[in-house]
Amino acid sequence: MKLRYKISGGILIFVAASLSLLALVVSHDSACGPAPALPANEEPMKAIVYRCYGPPEVLQFEDVAKPKPADDEVLVRVRAAAVNPLDWHYMRGSPYIMRLGSGLGAPDDSRIGVDFAGTVEAVGINVKQFKPGDNVFGGGSGAFAEYLTVREDRALALKPANVTFEQAASVPIAAITALQALRDKGKVQPGHKVLINGASGGVGTFAVQIAKSLGAEVTGVCSTRNVGMVRSIGADHVIDYTREDYTRSGEKYDVIIDNVGNHSLLANRRVLDPDGILVIVGGSKGNWLGPLLRPIGALILSPFVSQEFVMILAKFSKEDLALLGDLMQSGEVVPVIDRHYPLSEVPAAIRYSEEGRARGKIIIDLE
Ligand SMILES: NC(=O)c1ccc[n+]([C@@H]2O[C@H](COP(=O)([O-])OP(=O)(O)OC[C@H]3O[C@@H](n4cnc5c(N)ncnc54)[C@H](OP(=O)(O)O)[C@@H]3O)[C@@H](O)[C@H]2O)c1
Repeated sequence: MKLRYKISGGILIFVAASLSLLALVVSHDSACGPAPALPANEEPMKAIVYRCYGPPEVLQFEDVAKPKPADDEVLVRVRAAAVNPLDWHYMRGSPYIMRLGSGLGAPDDSRIGVDFAGTVEAVGINVKQFKPGDNVFGGGSGAFAEYLTVREDRALALKPANVTFEQAASVPIAAITALQALRDKGKVQPGHKVLINGASGGVGTFAVQIAKSLGAEVTGVCSTRNVGMVRSIGADHVIDYTREDYTRSGEKYDVIIDNVGNHSLLANRRVLDPDGILVIVGGSKGNWLGPLLRPIGALILSPFVSQEFVMILAKFSKEDLALLGDLMQSGEVVPVIDRHYPLSEVPAAIRYSEEGRARGKIIIDLE
């Protein structure tokens, strides 16, 4: 008996010590290293880079080596890029758990920025679908730069001619998230009543328009200053969250897309149809377990209620990019653009994104 207590006590101490060590390792911030010298034989380009985690001040505007496309890659001259909350998560290495992938102590990859639109400048010898001169948009590593390389089979699509570079750049992360949340997780059908919490941000402005294109009756939740904008992009009803709590509205929705996470799962359940689906897109903040609390709560609650609580981790898809290109070409989806910044001012653009008050998308101009 005593031996069993000793063994289980030993295991507990071992687990606690391992978790503490892991916590120390993932939360450690290394000092920012100096900029490496640019090799004499490399062609330079301007880019935003970071060599340590932290606030926007860690972002540097530097000359770095212009990338060269591998055999299956496309070299794109970036004409516009867009900012997403994902960029400042990478910049801060937060939540810490993501550092297991992005680098312990400091980022493994100094490039930053994902969403871009631009013109193909060169292609690797195995590339079949794109040629120099094609105008494209997509997601890659290091979009806050004059050039980036992307694998042909990854998130890359032709930009429709009637869509501007800034509009196309605003799409990849935010619109793919909105599309997959509504279509794949929410299973939205024509006539469904859909509520978008956080209808005025990057994901929300696309979600309102995509839900309309799927034939839904859409309610957008936003603050007073954004009521007119959310109505103008097609919302049938708008709830001003400074005056009304949607979870106490007495309405019932088939699908709720939650970009904010400011109401409990049970409060959301009050306004969900018995067969309704809550899609958790964003919300809970924090360096440690905060971001996981809602998804864990959803997993625990789901077996005991008739409604579904699901979390989405959007995935890049060539097909979805092309579909969103078609929706923009037909005018069913028109990106909402908030502010523009030049490449050198990416730190200010990310600082603005971190405030959480963007109205649609924040664009980095490289023209
Ligand atoms: N799961 C995924 O795969 C995935 C993918 C992309 C993004 N995300 C996450 O989804 C969230 C939204 O992303 P985003 O790009 O849309 O962010 P965003 O553009 O920064 O969202 C800003 C918007 O949120 C609104 N907002 C703030 N508080 C609100 C509240 N209490 N009620 C309603 N609206 C509120 C703001 O409007 P006001 O200023 O008027 O309040 C602002 O328009 C983020 O947490 C992001 O990390 C997740």
